[in-house]
Amino acid sequence: MNQLSIQAVSRSFAGPGGKSTQALLPVDFEVGENDFVTILGPSGCGKSTMLRIVAGLDFPSTGQVLLDGRAVTGPGADRGMVFQSYTLFPWLDVEQNIRFGLREKGVTAALQKERCDYFIAKVGLRGFENHYPKQLSGGMQQRVAIARALANDPKILLMDEPFGALDNQTRVLMQELLLGIWEAERKTVLFVTHDIDEAIFMASRVAVFSARPGRIKSDIPVNLPHPRHYTVKTTPAFMEFKARLTEEIRAEAIAAVAH
Ligand SMILES: Nc1ncnc2c1ncn2[C@@H]1O[C@H](COP(=O)(O)OP(=O)(O)OP(=O)(O)O)[C@@H](O)[C@H]1O
Ligand SMILES: [Mg+2]
Repeated sequence: MNQLSIQAVSRSFAGPGGKSTQALLPVDFEVGENDFVTILGPSGCGKSTMLRIVAGLDFPSTGQVLLDGRAVTGPGADRGMVFQSYTLFPWLDVEQNIRFGLREKGVTAALQKERCDYFIAKVGLRGFENHYPKQLSGGMQQRVAIARALANDPKILLMDEPFGALDNQTRVLMQELLLGIWEAERKTVLFVTHDIDEAIFMASRVAVFSARPGRIKSDIPVNLPHPRHYTVKTTPAFMEFKARLTEEIRAEAIAAVAH
């Protein structure tokens, strides 16, 4: 059985003047346990909408999402979400933000501290434990959000352009961090990005969305060997994936602009 099953999920939104916008056409998509699926597609094609539906933060107009065979009806600790924009609790410091979910789950204070310290070090924020979000740069806030999601140890990580605001060097380090965690712990990940290199580097599968109304246009397995080192990005096999995906995305980007 697949861990996550997206069954004929569509979404339309009511718009101004009673006109509705079809954000997603019915999408069928199966995600197996330990899959690392990256999602590429033009702006406005419904990627965030689909992720929010899987997270239980929004509801489909038709269809349903099953997680381990049970219908998703709302958010849950089994799914960890990292958004495009920063979503820390402004009234909590870095450490309290990261420990929040663990505390809610009733994890002991000692274990909260241990996991928190581990991920603070991993995302390079040692020394900032007691800073509040407004005292951090955008990229630092995003790293806290990533540490918080990882510390909670959810079954599925739902990540919506989580590295979009980071500088290129930090971004590559975060890709390696996330991939290393995936290689060690084999989490299930759905990861939206606009960056083709990033999509290939981390994925076991790349799903390409069509222009709005979105549907999944292709679903490409990435069989590059693990552990993957950033040097894989210069190999012929990587370049082949990149050339193919660049063509696919280009066609959809043109269709999106011509809309
Ligand atoms: N809450 C909402 N109310 C009305 N329309 C919405 C809402 N959320 C999304 N939409 C519409 O749904 C469509 C898809 O939006 P979505 O945010 O899912 O796109 P996306 O693929 O994530 O784009 P991007 O790459 O720019 O983040 C857009 O046309 C958008 O205007
Ligand atoms: Mg989006």
